[in-house]
Amino acid sequence: MEDKKDILLDNDILVNKSPILNQGTPEEKRAEILRYFQLTWELDNRLYDSLKSEEAFYMRADPLRHPLIFYIGHTATFFINKLILAGVLNERLNPKFESMFAVGVDEMSWDDLNEQHYDWPKLEDVRQYRRQVKQVIENLILELPLQMPINWESQFWVILMGIEHQRIHIETSSVLIRQLPIDEVQKIDLFESCTERGLAPENVLQKVEAGKVSIGKGRDDALYGWDNEFGSFKSEIKSFNASKYLVSNQEFKEFVDDDGYGNEKWWTEEGWAWVQYKKCSFPFFWLKDGEQWKLRLMSEEIEMPWNWPVEVNYLEAKAFCNWKSAQEGKKLRMRPKRSITVFTIVCKFRINRNGSKRLEISIWNIMRHLVR
Ligand SMILES: [Fe+2]
Repeated sequence: MEDKKDILLDNDILVNKSPILNQGTPEEKRAEILRYFQLTWELDNRLYDSLKSEEAFYMRADPLRHPLIFYIGHTATFFINKLILAGVLNERLNPKFESMFAVGVDEMSWDDLNEQHYDWPKLEDVRQYRRQVKQVIENLILELPLQMPINWESQFWVILMGIEHQRIHIETSSVLIRQLPIDEVQKIDLFESCTERGLAPENVLQKVEAGKVSIGKGRDDALYGWDNEFGSFKSEIKSFNASKYLVSNQEFKEFVDDDGYGNEKWWTEEGWAWVQYKKCSFPFFWLKDGEQWKLRLMSEEIEMPWNWPVEVNYLEAKAFCNWKSAQEGKKLRMRPKRSITVFTIVCKFRINRNGSKRLEISIWNIMRHLVR
């Protein structure tokens, strides 16, 4: 595979922190950003080691998304296109690739199939292009003028944008790999699945005290941010109850067993249309093997871990809340926007102290709790 000459430890590849943009000397920051870039790039490379064959790169894992050959090119192209837009680079490396890999499949409805045909290039040509881009970015990190603090005006802001964009796509590509046929993928050592498997603890509602919340970041914030993170919002939150744990596979199974997917009354209009379209009766990554339930992970199928959080979309979560409300005689719903802010602060605290991996876990918590 590409770029294996760099000696990067697995643990560093998996767990690292976004650079603090207003501390340290320019040369310290330059070295830190170079390492952050290299670790991110390597993680992106290693992810694709999960595919067994070149053919798998051209399979459409999800009808609403491009095949993975697009994404392996896209994360590299994004750097070049943004650097050209910002006037940091004047010349393209590969105009054809930088057009073909520029735009993904976005803003499509779940029933809006895209049948457009693309003449995708060979995998080795895309890998060669990635090697070129990596060299360009490394040279820029070493040579561009760098003044502290790094902010919106800095050329390094564009580099950071490219790195954070790549990190987003590492997550989305892993989900696409999870959607490929199991025979097309292989387990690699870097990605271990969680071994804490068993029955779920009983879930209860817990009181969250009323309080004031303030979210948003200023332009002088110490961390890189996307445009929708800036600005400020303050609010007073009334006390509310939230479930102690995320909704587990075990809890959700009760909804499945009660024919939740076959009963229109739990679903919104859009949700019911989705169920009819998908013809599903349980969550997407669940597998039924006789009387046994299994769960599809990125590159393996395991006995159902009943204590893991269930993975469902908004429409399924909404139907589950309606069903659960009827069961318990209480109004249960997904967390409204203002209540989310309470936990957004927890997220920020965690990212500063523990790094990006904990942030992902915290966001997960936000999306899957129930509130009363
Ligand atoms: Fe993208």
